Amino acid sequence: MKPSIANWNERYADADEYLFGTAPNAFLERQKARFTPGMTVLAVCDGEGRNGVWLAELGCEVWSVDAAQNASDKARRLAEARGVHMHIITHDMTQWDWKAQQFDAVVGIFFQFANPRMRSALFAGMQDATKPGGLIVLEGYGLKQLEFNTGGPKDAENLYTIPMVREAFSAMHIEFVEEYDAALSEGARHQGMSALVDMVATKPL
Ligand SMILES: C[S@@+](CC[C@H](N)C(=O)[O-])C[C@H]1O[C@@H](n2cnc3c(N)ncnc32)[C@H](O)[C@@H]1O
Repeated sequence: MKPSIANWNERYADADEYLFGTAPNAFLERQKARFTPGMTVLAVCDGEGRNGVWLAELGCEVWSVDAAQNASDKARRLAEARGVHMHIITHDMTQWDWKAQQFDAVVGIFFQFANPRMRSALFAGMQDATKPGGLIVLEGYGLKQLEFNTGGPKDAENLYTIPMVREAFSAMHIEFVEEYDAALSEGARHQGMSALVDMVATKPL
């Protein structure tokens, strides 16, 4: 069964446990040099804020959006604890007005609740929300993740492949898209050897 927003909210009900940890996603952290103070960043489906808060600590102005109210509440507490400000918005991103504001960077880490139809809309929206010359950073699980069973969806159609990502972002300049296995240790929900698909792209000027 695909988790609904209500299911996600329920998962986040324990105010003290950060399901994906409070440290940034490892791939995003490796992209640190790309983020400079003053950049505006949209953190798509940012959950409990581990990635948004880290970006804010780098000096970026971050919009952290997630549909689950409990996630937003925890993101707010994490930002306070780390002494940073970010815009925390509780909103269903399948209903997001992507064209309303453009950002220097758009970051999407593990939003694989999205089936192919939702994913197409989210991928297109991320591109609309990126300024010309701006950056897109994306990580998701690849198909092989079904064998590892260490996190992520059980539906093959929600998982990423390199051709699918290349096709969806074909209007962007794709700096790299790669598929590899690595051990993750990102909270209780993302633990162990994992099949990952990563992309860094920029929007043509
Ligand atoms: C696997 S978690 C990843 C959270 C975060 N990106 C991270 O890496 O820690 C997926 C997130 O998608 C959010 N989500 C699910 N459906 C959503 C929707 N329709 N709009 C926005 N966020 C949604 C969930 O609440 C959850 O926080």
